[in-house]
Amino acid sequence: MTFRTLPLLLLAVMAAVVGAAFAAEVNYPLDAPGPDGRRPGGTLTQSMPAPPIANDENKDLKRERNYPDQPPTIPHSIRGYQIDKNGNKCLSCHSRANSARTQATMISITHYMDRDGQALAAVSPRRYFCNQCHVPQKEVLPLVGNSFETIDKILQDDANAAQKP
Ligand code: HEC
Ligand code: HEC
Repeated sequence: MTFRTLPLLLLAVMAAVVGAAFAAEVNYPLDAPGPDGRRPGGTLTQSMPAPPIANDENKDLKRERNYPDQPPTIPHSIRGYQIDKNGNKCLSCHSRANSARTQATMISITHYMDRDGQALAAVSPRRYFCNQCHVPQKEVLPLVGNSFETIDKILQDDANAAQKP
């Protein structure tokens, strides 16, 4: 055996050992019920068919924000709206200059600030890719329950509790 083939041989042995470890794992019983999520029913080893893609909620009604800093969710469909280095479809309606014509909410002052809070003349590069923060919503019920309460409700509950003797 030459010195050159030794590393290859070692590699082959390692691959065999690792392979055996993975093969052994497959023998475990994996038939636990699958989590209730997007594809309910079935077990972990079964692939259930994906449900059809739901429609975008496209009612053109601004949604309430859960807290003041929340990026508002998009109340209209954005199918086919391009955002890349050549153009930004969103800004054709939401930019300062276009918002009067389109009656779309103007992007707020924070979208013109750099990371040091300095106001810029144009949209800040860190706010250019709108979908990083703003997303449309589908016409579906939430997949998992959620007990989020807005700050108004928490303050109200506090005030009510304080009033009680
Ligand atoms: C054709 C014009 C147009 C384009 C293009 C457009 N919007 Fe809008 N957008 C509107 C209008 C008008 C509203 C006000 C509510 C409504 O009519 O849907 C709105 C509402 C919104 C809101 C809610 C604002 C709030 O205060 O709650 C967000 C967020 C938003 N759009 C994001 C986007 C993003 C992100 C894109 C690009 C992917 C985009 N929009 C593209 C016209 C547009
Ligand atoms: C890094 C996250 C982020 C990105 C990227 C971003 N936004 Fe926002 N946006 C926010 C947040 C947070 C708010 C709510 C607080 C505020 O106004 O800063 C907001 C608010 C808004 C509003 C409501 C303004 C108002 O005065 O009610 C509109 C409209 C909007 N964004 C559109 C856009 C568009 C169009 C783009 C892309 C050009 C974009 N945003 C990119 C985070 C983002």
